[in-house]
Amino acid sequence: SSSLREACESSNYSRADDEYAGVEWDNLGFGLMETDYMYMMRCGRDEEFKQGQLSRYGNIELSPSAGVLNYGQGLFEGTKAFRREDGGLFLFRPQENAIRMQIGAQRMCMPCPSVEQFLDAVKQTALANRRWIPPPGKGSLYIRPLLMGSGPVLGLAPASEYTFLVYASPVGNYFKEATAPLNLYVEDEFHRAARGGAGGVKSITNYAPVLKAIARARDRGFSDVLYLDSINKRNIEEVSSCNVFILKGNILSTPATNGTILAGVTRKSIIDIARDLGYEVEERSIPIEELINADEIFCTGTAVGVAPVGSITYKGNRIEYKTSTQLLSQKLYSRLTGIQRGIIKDNRGWII
Ligand code: COI
Repeated sequence: SSSLREACESSNYSRADDEYAGVEWDNLGFGLMETDYMYMMRCGRDEEFKQGQLSRYGNIELSPSAGVLNYGQGLFEGTKAFRREDGGLFLFRPQENAIRMQIGAQRMCMPCPSVEQFLDAVKQTALANRRWIPPPGKGSLYIRPLLMGSGPVLGLAPASEYTFLVYASPVGNYFKEATAPLNLYVEDEFHRAARGGAGGVKSITNYAPVLKAIARARDRGFSDVLYLDSINKRNIEEVSSCNVFILKGNILSTPATNGTILAGVTRKSIIDIARDLGYEVEERSIPIEELINADEIFCTGTAVGVAPVGSITYKGNRIEYKTSTQLLSQKLYSRLTGIQRGIIKDNRGWII
């Protein structure tokens, strides 16, 4: 678009951006690699976002009393850009992230960019950083939109000013296990979210509290943590950074989004793909005991993709799951990444 061209020109966007960045593309993990540009847009508490712009990636200045620093008034999103064999660049369902940010912004009392503004910012950020989009099959450009209360506030109240910021980093596998099955530890002391809290939206406040549970599980040799509901400590909820699915026969189940579960974009996509493959999908409460007889368990998320689970440990008992290339998670992963990379036809309009 012309606004994109202008933005790129005003940021010293150059032909060199069409060449690949000097990155060792094999074995990308999920660490931050600083890229060239970020996008920023600001507005006041009772205003609407109007016009943002690309600038060189770098530190931002915040008041020590910014709402996000003092009271955690912030949301984040995650979406990915992929490179196709023919060089074309794809975004996967970024509208879903835009809509989810709007729902989260209402919950956190923040003004939010419109879906169009969000998409424009994500596209501009992806294109301006396109030399960082990995070659086909080597990974993706993870795009991280943030919305935060950047204005000063002392008493507990919504901040007076808001910043929407988008940056990006090339990524590969999220877990150090890469594509090997995860060993999950079921946590019954710490919880991720409670009814009435903000677990159902992508509030930044949902993430730091799980660090301790993750650290404890990793010290004990596990990959990550599976959380239980905070009321009965009986139903499974999600893993620290992803949703969870269990397969029994032809029925694929995942915890219902009742306010404590994040409505993952990958979760939603996998539900549709599994139904296409002939599976029955149920969104419901899943008691931990059901995991004992499950045929397969796997996790889904934008960062994580589709990750098979090899074992679950609950109250000292370890349940092992079969691992083979015949797994449903493998089929779902191939379909999802096939659509994301343009190898499988996208007949739902998921790709931009
Ligand atoms: C994502 O999958 O995009 C997430 O937000 C998870 C994050 C903790 C890396």
